[in-house]
Order: sequence, then structure tokens, then C-alpha cells
Amino acid sequence: MELFSTQSFLFFLSLLTFLYLYHKAHTSHKPKPKSTGFKTYPLVGSVPHSLLNCHRFLDWTTDILCHCPTHTAIFRRLSKHHCIITANPGNVEHILKTNFHNYPKGQRFIYLLEDFLGQGIFNSDGNLWKLQRKIASYGFNTKSLRNFAIQNVTVEIQTRLIPLLQRASETDSVLDLQDVLERFAFDSVCKLAFNVDPACLAGDNTVGSGFMHAFDDAANLSSGRFLCVPQLLWKLKRLLNVGSEKKLRESIFTVHEFADEIIRSRIEAKDPTNDDVDLLSRFMAAEDNSLEFLRDVVISFILAGRDTTSSALSWFFWILSSRPDVKDKIIKEIETVRASSEKRVSEEAAFAYEELKEMKYLHAAISEAMRLYPPVPADTVACLNDDVLPDGTVIKKDWFVMIHTYAMGRMESIWGQDCAEYKPERWFDFDEDGNEVWRSESPFRYPVFHGGPRMCLGKDMAYIQMKSIAASVMERFVIDAVDKDTCPEQIFSLTLRMKRGLLVRVRPNGRR
Ligand code: HEM
Repeated sequence: MELFSTQSFLFFLSLLTFLYLYHKAHTSHKPKPKSTGFKTYPLVGSVPHSLLNCHRFLDWTTDILCHCPTHTAIFRRLSKHHCIITANPGNVEHILKTNFHNYPKGQRFIYLLEDFLGQGIFNSDGNLWKLQRKIASYGFNTKSLRNFAIQNVTVEIQTRLIPLLQRASETDSVLDLQDVLERFAFDSVCKLAFNVDPACLAGDNTVGSGFMHAFDDAANLSSGRFLCVPQLLWKLKRLLNVGSEKKLRESIFTVHEFADEIIRSRIEAKDPTNDDVDLLSRFMAAEDNSLEFLRDVVISFILAGRDTTSSALSWFFWILSSRPDVKDKIIKEIETVRASSEKRVSEEAAFAYEELKEMKYLHAAISEAMRLYPPVPADTVACLNDDVLPDGTVIKKDWFVMIHTYAMGRMESIWGQDCAEYKPERWFDFDEDGNEVWRSESPFRYPVFHGGPRMCLGKDMAYIQMKSIAASVMERFVIDAVDKDTCPEQIFSLTLRMKRGLLVRVRPNGRR
């Protein structure tokens, strides 16, 4: 109770400081001095300024980190456990690789997401994480899983995505492309995880769509707990089962019920000769795991693969709407690949794995979009024991570290003076004969897929999926964002999504 009073007092103090700052910001016309770190006040730390800037959290923090000498700053929280926010590649390598064991996800992260994710790979540390990582890495490296994923993506493109875009182009209707891509990604990752097709893109499966909506709500409401000030508020709501916590409980129930039903029937039908290739069967074959654990595994994978590819492609298509030069180069590359394999688009030929691998410029164009708009814009870990980061920043036990991937994509010190420009060409170097060669980037300068032992397991699969969708769409259609000149407003949650979706018009590609 005493803790509650202290927290409440600090919260109201923050609120008062926030109101004071808000008033000051809107009445003062003096030029502001250059910032070098977060403004901090006694007792309430940096919280008032974060409340003032919460609608533009990523740009605000990027701006601050840009002006800090080592692109690292301390964010002082209401509690004594502060947060180091960094966009420094040396620090990132130290945290994600060199001193990996000192920076787990940590109890707080795990606790906040536990109701939804249980002990799945995304929400575990130590041996539990290691075991899942081992089984999943083995699965991800097999050709059978890769082929299974490609086959699923191809069917989804040809039987759902292309017909949907075709209809939109014939009727000249406005379409929310982000929504379409999210449905696509959800169908694909469910098939990969437990070989179930929720048919969300087709839009005719109410049970599947219900599962997707419940999953969306559960993910958004669980991650909303991170931003809740004071933290006791969500705990109180959960205790009383009211508001967002009531909704969260209901959506988690729907997700668990759907997943449990599938897993139960798979356990009952278990057959040692069964050659299912999805992730669930690999986990079922590896150990005698409980239904709850198998459910946690499945849910974590769906979460990991769900909004990431759709976020990347939404920003990619928005950028391309005002870059006809890049569009032309991609189309030329697709035509060259088609010509060399002697396949014609009219034959409804899907792109093969090798053809997609050949599309280097498309690969660069997608990587460049993710540099500026990373699907996972920031990643937080905990600090187990006191440490000093390579740039000299001191970090204490139980503090947090936020790796600011979004800011890192916008750092002049990493990408040069043209860092704000969208330029796929920056991903190539030239050899002595003047040929373009791919310039691979360190994951600690470009942590879009994380780095070190917890690096994203689905990276290759994600590229294959994104390239397959982009090439198939661009070969047939021109996508025009309705508002191509205004940067879409962002929602900052676990993934970087557009607040109002991506409204587009679709035209046939006249070059065919
Ligand atoms: C553009 C697409 C993607 C991006 C940018 C991306 C990025 C990331 C990032 C930043 C992490 C670290 C998150 C954290 O630990 O907090 C991660 C982890 C992970 N990703 Fe991805 N991801 C993508 C697609 C996928 C796909 C399609 C899958 C497969 C279903 C996948 C599976 C995973 C898994 C299993 C982990 C957890 C790894 C671990 O903790 O050991 N990802 N990803």
C-alpha cells in the first residue's frame, strides 16, 4: 500500500511537471538550447518529457541520441531502475554478443508478456530459451521447412493476393495495403507454425479472422503494459478485471482456445510415420512436451512472424510510391530474371527460390526500407550485473537497455551524410572490375534482425516471403499510395505499424 502511495505521488508529480512543461512549450518563443541527453527532474526523472513526446517517441529519442557524443543516453524512470537507450554499434555488439549472458530479456519483460506468451522462445531466458532455440534452429535450416514455406506463400499469392489486387484495379477502389499484408502474413505464419490456414486474406473464415483479431488485441494490449505509467495501474485493472485488462484476458482466452484445440487433435492423432513439416510437429517429435508448452511455442512463432514482414512491405510500398526510379530498376531486374529462366508471367509462374535469390537489387531496396523503418524499432533487455559499456556508460544491476534500431538507421556516423535518403545503391560496393558486389552489413550497425545468439531465426524465410510478394505484385500492378507525400503516422508497439493503414490505388502494370 505504501508502495502504491509513493508511486501515485510520483506519477502525479510527473503529471504536474508535464502540464507545466506543456504550458511553457506553448507560450515561450525563445530558441531552445541543443539537447545532450534526456532532461531530468528531481524525483520524476525523464518521465514528464516522455509524456510530452509520447506521440513521437521514436523521432524524439532519435533526435536526442543524434546529439549525444556516443549516441547513448540515460532515461531516468520513476523507479530506481533506469534505462540506457543506445544507438552505438560498439555498445550493441557488447550487449547482444560479447557480454550476452549479462543481458537477458529479464524478469520484468517476461512477467509483462507471460499471460499471453507463457514461456515461448520470445519470452524466455536460460535453458528454456536454449532448448527451443536448438529445436527451432534445426527446423529452420531444413530444406523441407523452407520448401513448405515457399509453397504456402506461393499459394497465398496466386489464389488470394493477386485476385484481390486484380479486383481492386478493375474497380479502381482504395485498399488498405497494410491490412492486406497483415492478413497475408498471419495466414503464412499460422501454416508454418501449426499447418492451419486461418484464411484471413480470403476473408471468408470467421473463426480464422476471430483468431487473428484476438491475437492482435492480445499482442497490442500486452505490449501496452510496458508504457503504462504507473505500472501499478495495469496490475490493479487485472486484479479487478476491468478495462484493457478485461479485454486482454478475453482475447488471450480466445487465442488459447483456438491453439489448444489444434494441438490437442494433433497430439491425439500422433503417428510416428507422420511427415508433417510445420514447426509444431518438430517440437512434438523432439520432446514429450505438455500441451501448454506446445501452445507457448506456437504462439511465440506466430507473434515473431506476424507483423514483421507486413510492416516492412507496407513502408517499402509507401516509399516506392514516390520513387519511380527505384521501381523501374526493380522491374528491370524481374524482367531479366524472367528472361533467363524463360518463364512468362502470363503462365502464372511463381518465382522459384533460386530466382528470388538472384534479385539482389530488390533485396537492397527492401533492406533499405527497413533501415529507415525497422519492423522492430527498438528492443529492450535487462542488465543482470553492474557493467560498463564500451563507450564508458555505466550501467547498474536491474537497469534496462533499449537498443534503438530506428535511431541507428538514421545516424550520420553509421550511414554517412546522406543517411536520411532512401538509396538502395548503398548496399553495393564495386570490385576491381567495376562489378557491383553485395556489401553485407554488421548486425550490430544494422540490428534490424537483432544480432548475436538471439538473432532472428526467420530472417532468410522473411526475405524470401517479402521478395516473392514484392516481385509478384510489381510484375503485375502499379501500387500508388493515396497520400504518397505525407509520412504515415506511426504506432509504436512491438512492431512499427502505420496508424491509419496504407491506403493505395492499384493499376495494371502497363509494361506486361
Ligand atoms: C522482416 C521480418 C522480420 C524482422 C525484421 C524480424 C526481426 C526480429 C528481431 C529484431 C528479433 C529479436 C526480438 C527480441 O528478441 O526481442 C527477432 C526474433 C525472432 N524472430 Fe524475427 N523478424 C522477422 C521475421 C521473422 C519470421 C518470418 C519469423 C518466423 C516465423 C521470425 C522468427 C523469429 C524468432 C523465432 C525469434 C526469436 C529468436 C530468439 O529469441 O532466439 N522472424 N526477429
